[in-house]
Amino acid sequence: MKVTVVGAGAVGATCADNIARKELCQELVLLDIKEGLAEGKAQDMMQTATLLGFDTKITGSTNDYSKTAGSSVVVITSGIPRKPGMTREDLIGTNAGIVKGVCENILKYSPEAIIIVISNPMDTMTYLALQSTGLPKNRIIGMGGILDSSRFKYQISQRLTCSPSDLNAVVIGGHGDTTMIPLIRFATWNSVPVSNFLSHDEQTAIVNDTMVGGATLTKLIGTSAWYAPGAAGAALVEAIVRDEKKLFTCCVALDGEYGQKDICLGVPVIIGKNGWEQIVEFGLNDDEQAKFNASADAVRSMNDVLATLA
Ligand code: 2OP
Repeated sequence: MKVTVVGAGAVGATCADNIARKELCQELVLLDIKEGLAEGKAQDMMQTATLLGFDTKITGSTNDYSKTAGSSVVVITSGIPRKPGMTREDLIGTNAGIVKGVCENILKYSPEAIIIVISNPMDTMTYLALQSTGLPKNRIIGMGGILDSSRFKYQISQRLTCSPSDLNAVVIGGHGDTTMIPLIRFATWNSVPVSNFLSHDEQTAIVNDTMVGGATLTKLIGTSAWYAPGAAGAALVEAIVRDEKKLFTCCVALDGEYGQKDICLGVPVIIGKNGWEQIVEFGLNDDEQAKFNASADAVRSMNDVLATLA
């Protein structure tokens, strides 16, 4: 099996490194438009093989999509990352054209692939990938909720001083600083609602800190984060290639679910070998549904910007 990661920047390279270490495929292709970047990072990763004990064959390519031909999964991370003070939505003018071109090449060389979109603004880039490829909707998956849910668990674990792995917590809606919805009401610590341990103010602080988790790191680092985004992308690849039937929150095409249609937005889905296989309704209360609708309105307004771009 072959998996391709498009974009050898920090997120793409980290995603590729995680995929290789987990041996999720026989061959991993890392592609970038910048001369030599993907080849160099592929060789660097291959030189860890004997140290880390993996046999994945990693191939680097400078914009030669023929090397990606026949990929089962393609992860799109290409485009510019945000800088301090920017929103993910600010990237649409540059990244939409890049993602559209990548989709055209994926369709040409790997028409049967499942496409994972990480490039920002991710919800709109996922919608763009769906529209521009015309592929079945179950094969187009935006990765944002997995990352945001991991940050949500981190924030809860910091207050509870517990292991993040003992927590279940999900973020739905858009992958934006103001559009994501951490569902604190559903969060549990080994099946016990976290509300049993946290005051209302603590829960509010956790939700707010989760929503700006990406921006917080961008301010500290000076650019977008990459360890957690890369690992989240690899976790999604793993659920697909190992047919794990994982319940993740991913950005997928809605056709009436959660009261929305003609949009790609983060909802709980079952992930397996066919891509996203089922949308799971969580039974939102009125407040959560209102936030989801507002999130959809904000993402839809970004989707409308696509039509204004050349
Ligand atoms: C993040 O939130 C890059 O969107 C990604 O870090």
